[in-house]
Amino acid sequence: MAAPIWQKNTQETIDQTIMDFMAGEDIILDQELIHFDIQASKAHVNGLSSIKILDTDETQQLLKQLNTLQQEIEEGTFILSNQFEDGHSAIEFYLVEKLGELGKKVHTGRSRNDQVLVATRLYLKHALSQAIEHVKASVEACLFQAEKTESVPMPGYTHMQRAVPSSAGMWFAGFAEAMIDNLFSLNSTLKLIDSNPLGTAAGYGVNLPLNRELTTQELAFSRMQINPIYTQNSRGKYELAVLSTLSQCLLDIRRYCWDVSLFTTQEFDLVKLPDEMTTGSSIMPNKRNPDLIELMRASYATVQAAVIELQSILSLPSGYQRDLQLTKGPLLRAVNKALQTLHLFPRVVAGTQFNQEKLIEAIDTPMYATDFAVELSAKGIPFRDAYQQVAERYDELSSRTAQQSIEERVSPGSCNFLMLDVLKKRYLSMID
Ligand code: ARG
Repeated sequence: MAAPIWQKNTQETIDQTIMDFMAGEDIILDQELIHFDIQASKAHVNGLSSIKILDTDETQQLLKQLNTLQQEIEEGTFILSNQFEDGHSAIEFYLVEKLGELGKKVHTGRSRNDQVLVATRLYLKHALSQAIEHVKASVEACLFQAEKTESVPMPGYTHMQRAVPSSAGMWFAGFAEAMIDNLFSLNSTLKLIDSNPLGTAAGYGVNLPLNRELTTQELAFSRMQINPIYTQNSRGKYELAVLSTLSQCLLDIRRYCWDVSLFTTQEFDLVKLPDEMTTGSSIMPNKRNPDLIELMRASYATVQAAVIELQSILSLPSGYQRDLQLTKGPLLRAVNKALQTLHLFPRVVAGTQFNQEKLIEAIDTPMYATDFAVELSAKGIPFRDAYQQVAERYDELSSRTAQQSIEERVSPGSCNFLMLDVLKKRYLSMID
């Protein structure tokens, strides 16, 4: 490993086993963050330049090398390997190698504590913007399917028992509304975390008038995170906010996948998935398995596990503690899993094909009992009495059809009044 950036002299003892333990998987994880670290380093250089800590020539040289480093990482010519303690050290090592003494100036007025915070914050903002795009596509896919299947009857279950006729349109519209709610939540989490931690140094500020306004603007944060102690304490807290928003999306996806996995069984046979979304069995030639949606259903567990891991790590006093490094692994793992799942969800929605014949078959006559009781009570019979009467007049239900039942379901939000236009308007008001 290259000498740690904090090593004061060559006599200082460095125990490689201990160093390796402390670095852990940091260097691998930093591969995902280094781009944001470089971006923030450039803003920091510009900030130092604006308060005359760096002159114009020094600024230009540092910016140029940071850009080249970015390029070399993209091209694979600079590899973030475990010869470095972490990504932050790698950036400084590169600058010193290219620029000598000048390279060492990059760390003026900053600490790895605010450096990791700002890189993670930029990463989280980027991840949320991607999640927002996927959720928008999900809303659109669900609304499209809802419109298409508005008049397709489907059994409605409670306690997994046949209850009343429902419609495929209502089922899809429910997921559209869920995803619109998730969009609210994602947007508000994005607003919450849109706060610049750079310039708080180790968590107590520095004796320099750092231009935090400039770095806030340059990094496109909507505000500055002011108090350095709180800024440190928000590490993990903001990550948890992001994970909990993502897990809400995954909770809905889990429900969708659960329904579909059930509906694709031979027993239900209400839904078919396209071939590319199912797999064959290695031993049973007769099988097609819904592995994809099962794995998407399990994504929630990955994110929840990360939430618990983070919550456990965060039992800490104020200020930076190295424990916080361990938030990185679960965070990146969970965010990646969530984004992959959200990315696939609109395709799964578009690929969900209902079997109309089977849907009708699954709606049996007793399922019209509630319609009948409500009709009687609309004519003035107290509902409890109407309920009793229907129990004795089941034979009168046989002339009813599922189509009729869903056409008469006019309460707002229900089969014949899905209010898709209102959902659409709500959605459109939330996107640019
Ligand atoms: N890898 C460290 C982390 O993620 C970077 C910050 C190190 N800071 C320190 N004071 N040792 O927390």
